[in-house]
Amino acid sequence: MSAHRAVATLGALVACGGVVVSTTGCDRLPGRPTAAQVAAEGTAEWTIQVFNTSCRGCHAQGTEGAAVPLMESDYWRAATDEQVARAVLEGQGMLMPAFGPSAGGPFTASQASALTRGMRAIWGGATRQSSEISGTVVAGNASNGKSVFDAACAGCHGAAGSAGSVTDPMYLRLVSDQGLWTAVVAGRAALGSPAWNEPMPGRPSGLTATEVADVVAYLSSQRPRSMSETQP
Ligand code: HEC
Ligand code: HEC
Repeated sequence: MSAHRAVATLGALVACGGVVVSTTGCDRLPGRPTAAQVAAEGTAEWTIQVFNTSCRGCHAQGTEGAAVPLMESDYWRAATDEQVARAVLEGQGMLMPAFGPSAGGPFTASQASALTRGMRAIWGGATRQSSEISGTVVAGNASNGKSVFDAACAGCHGAAGSAGSVTDPMYLRLVSDQGLWTAVVAGRAALGSPAWNEPMPGRPSGLTATEVADVVAYLSSQRPRSMSETQP
């Protein structure tokens, strides 16, 4: 696995997101419901149509998507409906486009809620919102987080690891704190990325909520403040 898959996949999304912003007149781009979208709003058929048209290119299952797989229950176990609808309406960080009216997007607030409920019904599984740990990022202590990172993450994400750097300045420039939180809490099973409640080196029973908050605060504290700091 390339040391910089995370940077490469998110970089590809920057290019994709740029297209979305600059050519919203085109029916075939993500974020634009097509004329073929005829199913009644709120039905499972409608949800799948909207998802396939507007979301799937970035959020597919397995190893396919560049962003968190929404077609898998691991994400839904922790995420709240409020968090999902907010991401859809307002976007998230630099890479997740906003689909709400204030961004000139195609969805009303009630459509975003209907899409959220629909996705949870289809992909949430039996585990719905059962995680003991919140899906929404909370503030932590960065210096404690450095110890968590060294013990639980560096084996895979450090210099000797094979999972790629998550302290790479270019990667941290692109990803939001919520995105980091989600990566730790939901994991990516198909990529071998553990979730918070699975064994990690030095943490056989996974992470506590405090450890997740702290390690995200540590990664966030490594984010460069300006583009020049991302130069090698
Ligand atoms: C057993 C190895 C392993 C451990 C331990 C591990 N990870 Fe990962 N992690 C991975 C793999 C594999 C990926 C997927 C990399 C890719 O994109 O191909 C990943 C992905 C990530 C991503 C998302 C990168 C992206 O593509 O957006 C973040 C953030 C992350 N890990 C943070 C952490 C943190 C923080 C810890 C410690 C609490 C940790 N990981 C522990 C293997 C591991
Ligand atoms: C151009 C690619 C792209 C498209 C299209 C896209 N997303 Fe995203 N989405 C992302 C990325 C990248 C993130 C993570 C951004 C971050 O946190 O830095 C994200 C984050 C999210 C999150 C938040 C995950 C979390 O951290 O809790 C949700 C929910 C979401 N997207 C839903 C959707 C839905 C629903 C659609 C379709 C209406 C959609 N996305 C379309 C790229 C995309």
